Amino acid sequence: HQPKGYSHAESATLTTAGLTAWRALVVDGGIKPGNSVLVLGSGGVSVFACQLAKSLGATVFATSSSNDKLEKYKALGADHLINYKEDPEWGKTVRKLTDGRGVDHVIEVGGPGTLPQSINAVAIAGHIALIGVLTGSAGEVPTAKLMAKQARLQGLIVGSCSDQRDFVRALEANGVKPVIDKTFGLEELADAFRYEESGKHFGKICLAF
Ligand SMILES: NC(=O)c1ccc[n+]([C@@H]2O[C@H](COP(=O)([O-])OP(=O)(O)OC[C@H]3O[C@@H](n4cnc5c(N)ncnc54)[C@H](OP(=O)(O)O)[C@@H]3O)[C@@H](O)[C@H]2O)c1
Repeated sequence: HQPKGYSHAESATLTTAGLTAWRALVVDGGIKPGNSVLVLGSGGVSVFACQLAKSLGATVFATSSSNDKLEKYKALGADHLINYKEDPEWGKTVRKLTDGRGVDHVIEVGGPGTLPQSINAVAIAGHIALIGVLTGSAGEVPTAKLMAKQARLQGLIVGSCSDQRDFVRALEANGVKPVIDKTFGLEELADAFRYEESGKHFGKICLAF
């Protein structure tokens, strides 16, 4: 069942983007209050992860290519904002901002182009949830750095039915609602994909019919 009070469009954001963020942080990550979470870019998975992390008492580091989108992250409660275009060494910056400790969880949606910086950013024994392929599907992994960090790099594909039930119960308790950037009609499907391709969105793009 969808969470009480959710529209169909809001519910449609849960089965992939939302559930993936939930599994990364809660099921695989075992997030605790006081943990730190790094979210990359401002797509559907990352924005949901920021909202969940804040609802669970974590400190959030958010990156984006757009300062306007970073302002939107700030409004959602993100604590530290980094423009990854202006600061290509954002992993080092995260470490500096954490006094050298690094973050407990990384929501890794970029893939090969971002993983080296994510490994820089993660804490010793931290967790990198390997979710996305926004920068490509294959590449080099700095294995020695990953080993020295003793970090856990875990791939995941969405989540189970029972994860989703737990997630829905959590949403009913914490009141988190997804961020829907724009809703298109079904007949505007191509425009919706063009809009996604433009990268202008913050959070989810929906179709209503
Ligand atoms: N494993 C799974 O089960 C699972 C589930 C859902 C999604 N995914 C995958 O996860 C990725 C993200 O999905 P999504 O739905 O959140 O995508 P999305 O909404 O299309 O995200 C696009 C955003 O990603 C950010 N981005 C692009 N290149 C980046 C880079 N080099 N560094 C940091 N951020 C970058 C940009 O944010 P800014 O504009 O703020 O820069 C862009 O607006 C995709 O590859 C998707 O296929 C996997």
